[in-house]
Amino acid sequence: MKIKTKDLLTLAELTSKEFLGLIDHSIKLKKELKKGVNKPLLKNKTLTMIFQKPSTRTRVSFETGMYQLGGHAINLSSNDTQLSRGESVEDTAKTLSRYTDCIMARVYDHTLLDKLSEHSTIPVINGLSDSFHPCQILADFMTIKEQKKTLKGLKIAWIGDGNNVCNSMIYGAALSGAQMSIATPKDFQPDKSVVKVSQNLTDIELTTDPLKAAKNADVIVTDTYSSIHNVDPKRMKKFLPKYQVNDKIMDIADKNAIFLHCLPAKREQEVTSSVIDGSQSFVWDEAENRLHTQKALLCALLHA
Ligand code: CP
Ligand code: NVA
Repeated sequence: MKIKTKDLLTLAELTSKEFLGLIDHSIKLKKELKKGVNKPLLKNKTLTMIFQKPSTRTRVSFETGMYQLGGHAINLSSNDTQLSRGESVEDTAKTLSRYTDCIMARVYDHTLLDKLSEHSTIPVINGLSDSFHPCQILADFMTIKEQKKTLKGLKIAWIGDGNNVCNSMIYGAALSGAQMSIATPKDFQPDKSVVKVSQNLTDIELTTDPLKAAKNADVIVTDTYSSIHNVDPKRMKKFLPKYQVNDKIMDIADKNAIFLHCLPAKREQEVTSSVIDGSQSFVWDEAENRLHTQKALLCALLHA
């Protein structure tokens, strides 16, 4: 699977064909792994992982993925590096490019990724920034494809905070031809420029009415109201009870609708236990699919 971009920072770097191709390659890698087939496509390759923020899934899935592909991953919290003592991003990017083959970074300010990308000669992957979470969306669309067999024309309802994951999901919808209806409080809408550019490619509706968004939806998605960069407890009042994904929301959706959440989840806040632990929830497949999609992505970026 070939892709043209050097880096994956938002998803907007991909063509529709590349996005769909990555998902199909991920499904193939997953099937192969289940049969015990595990090709060392990244033998002797090393991934540097930099984490400014905590992580369970991103760290473990990237590290395991590199291991399964015959490569190696180095994990650095930002305090482990000289970045914490003021070494520039530019010098860090140049140095890492001389030792390793790829950088994955989880950061606060998205422009740090732009700088890493500009000054490194190796691919840079966004492992979540305040603005985007592209790796999550590859896994989400893989999960949707597994369950629905198709992406084009599906209705995805996002309910809650129009945050970093929502921004990337909008790009995912645009690349796959899915429609999105996004229900958020007025002051919590997704990034305007992401919405605008994506509306040229597919149907992206913004509303403050979760029932309108959920009506006949094929996929219901939410995320925490308190992202790592946005933990003000007062935020909760703006969302509850109106923007909670509960049985009423699932009843309005299509009867075969699936529920997704990137995790970590706060049960009884953005989603009830009855939904996340219920039969329509595919959140564990979604979490697993981080592994397969990131393996496909690493292979594509490293031309393996
Ligand atoms: N969904 C996700 O990125 O999880 P982590 O924060 O645990 O990596
Ligand atoms: N929106 C959440 C996603 C965590 C994976 C955050 O940024 O904390």
